[in-house]
Amino acid sequence: MKRTMRTLLFCGLVAAVSMTQGCGQKAKPGVVKAAFGVMPDGRAVDLFTLTNRSGMEARITNYGCIVTHLTVPDRNGKPGDVVLGYDSLSSYLAVNPYFGCVAGRYANRIAKAQFRLDGRTVRVTRNDGPNHLHGGRAGFDKKLWTAEPSDSSAALKLVYTASDGEEGYPGSLTATVIYTLTDDNEFRIEYEAVTDKPTVVNLTQHSYFNLSADPSTDALDHTLLILADKFTPVDRTLIPTGELKSVEGTPFDFRTPTAVGARIGAEDEQLRRGLGYDHNWVLNGWDGSLQTVAELADPVSGRTMEVLTTEPGLQFYSGNFLDGTITGKGGIVYGRRSGLCLETQHYPDSPNKPKFPSTTLRPGETYKTTTVYRFSAE
Ligand code: BGC
Repeated sequence: MKRTMRTLLFCGLVAAVSMTQGCGQKAKPGVVKAAFGVMPDGRAVDLFTLTNRSGMEARITNYGCIVTHLTVPDRNGKPGDVVLGYDSLSSYLAVNPYFGCVAGRYANRIAKAQFRLDGRTVRVTRNDGPNHLHGGRAGFDKKLWTAEPSDSSAALKLVYTASDGEEGYPGSLTATVIYTLTDDNEFRIEYEAVTDKPTVVNLTQHSYFNLSADPSTDALDHTLLILADKFTPVDRTLIPTGELKSVEGTPFDFRTPTAVGARIGAEDEQLRRGLGYDHNWVLNGWDGSLQTVAELADPVSGRTMEVLTTEPGLQFYSGNFLDGTITGKGGIVYGRRSGLCLETQHYPDSPNKPKFPSTTLRPGETYKTTTVYRFSAE
């Protein structure tokens, strides 16, 4: 075969595979769809690869809205995958500690798996000791969403309709999640939901980050900034007591960038209860607009992730329950604290805490929130 012919064929192949790489040309943002496997009931599951012009790539499956890979350049421009996850759908189906998913209908905990709504007691699935966690036994993280890739940008829209009574929640609820990768290396998540009966909603993204792109070691050397003067202390079952407690003088004070591991072993009742950090921070100056609320940085790779949200709370979970029993992507064993979650959301157990910002959604209203993970390297 002649060299030009071979080159042409090669370029054609690369274009077909990535849709983005012209030979020697700057990548164009886009989405490529591939098969990812099948659900136990035979439904096909897809994997979408989003690429931008600045070297970032996100891979997302419509099973659970899971972000399986998020590739970000380090300070030398070398790309690395900064989220924990699995290589195959079957692993996600088998055991998943919520890697990369969207948790819902109500992310985080509801005490004793019940709450009062309009004078009635609603009972939801008990799946975390006495409590309800992340939407129940088969929450939004275990559902197959319908996916619609954009044909002009690196964006993917996912939709799931939960039925009335699913996991105990009243109302048929349609949730929409739009993931976008911008050319400024922002990973944007826009959530929307509507219901046909009064219900509660709290959606979050549950990626475990390790900005070093090497989760064979823990992420305790990452520095973290959280713009919050208060947090919500918890009882022994990780339900907020209702108090908004000052972080001043406690290991929960991240108002200046501090290594995650610096105080995680401190003698502190709250850290003991969470087995580390597993708490909600009360974000300063919440008014529903998109604001910077946190920043995570890895001193070794130089990767930095700024968190912006319209939400009032941030659950910082330091991966305390990872214990080396899970082998993830590329055969890497995920040890304790090898990934950190920064989950933007309403406060845990809000349906039982009238003083917390409300999570009730009524027919005719639209739940609408935005969160952005903005990456750079220094
Ligand atoms: C919760 C943890 C829980 C974890 C499960 C986090 O959002 O705060 O308590 O164990 O999710 O992966």
